[in-house]
Amino acid sequence: MTTQAKDLAENINRFYDAAMFSDRLINYYGGSDYTNFGYWTDATPDAKAACDALMAQLLGFIPEKKGRILDVACGKGETSRYLSTFYPAGQITAINISERQLSRGREIVPGANFMLMDATALEFPDASFDAVVCVEAAFHFNTREKFLREAARVLKPGGHLVLSDILTSRRADEDHQRRIGDNHVADLDEYRALYAGAGLAVDALVDATENCWRGHYRHMVNYAHEALLHRQVTRSQLQQSLDIYYERAQYIEHYLLVSAIRR
Ligand SMILES: C[S@@+](CC[C@H](N)C(=O)[O-])C[C@H]1O[C@@H](n2cnc3c(N)ncnc32)[C@H](O)[C@@H]1O
Repeated sequence: MTTQAKDLAENINRFYDAAMFSDRLINYYGGSDYTNFGYWTDATPDAKAACDALMAQLLGFIPEKKGRILDVACGKGETSRYLSTFYPAGQITAINISERQLSRGREIVPGANFMLMDATALEFPDASFDAVVCVEAAFHFNTREKFLREAARVLKPGGHLVLSDILTSRRADEDHQRRIGDNHVADLDEYRALYAGAGLAVDALVDATENCWRGHYRHMVNYAHEALLHRQVTRSQLQQSLDIYYERAQYIEHYLLVSAIRR
């Protein structure tokens, strides 16, 4: 069934608020507040390290880490906490559509500004940020195109937008409860064109499907089986988690790392 625009935010918040505050996910992320696939190599020890590595990859695209930065779809604030190792907290603004997640962000990054806001309708003046970061969320937006235009508008000329993003099959975008068909992008040419249309010059577009999605998949599947071996989950709980991953394996086409500069 096609998800209607009005149901989208509700479906997204119901899913993430339940998952992100569950002991199971908090344990998986080593007690941290991340919720993303991370960036994996053979040497990556755990999910928290993978998520830090993903942030390091994205921030590596920003040559001078200074001025004001906006963290779009900040989840529970762990991405902002990572930003606070480079930027003073007072220079960090973070937005999300879940008040519950924002409250956690306020606890873990005191001094940063956490605001309830939709990525596609940013309530900031033009040219008010030096950089914008968005980790693993644009595939939920209604639409990515509107978000890119908003990001370009709030960026100062020469400012960087850096993000990780996922492209999924048309059918999955149309049928999935937490995505909307209008946000579907057919291929990388169409994806690049969205940035150009928003006034953003793409200076890096890295296909990180192997390091991010597949790395996370392998780790998560192992982790889930270990949990069964140690009787921390029941067989039906294991099956439930694996089903989500088997399904994702059918529809995730690209995991992308992107850096774009406001013209
Ligand atoms: C996979 S989580 C990523 C969270 C965080 N960036 C991280 O890496 O830990 C996706 C996040 O996108 C947020 N989100 C989804 N749609 C949004 C929208 N339209 N505007 C702002 N945030 C949104 C969700 O609430 C959720 O926190």
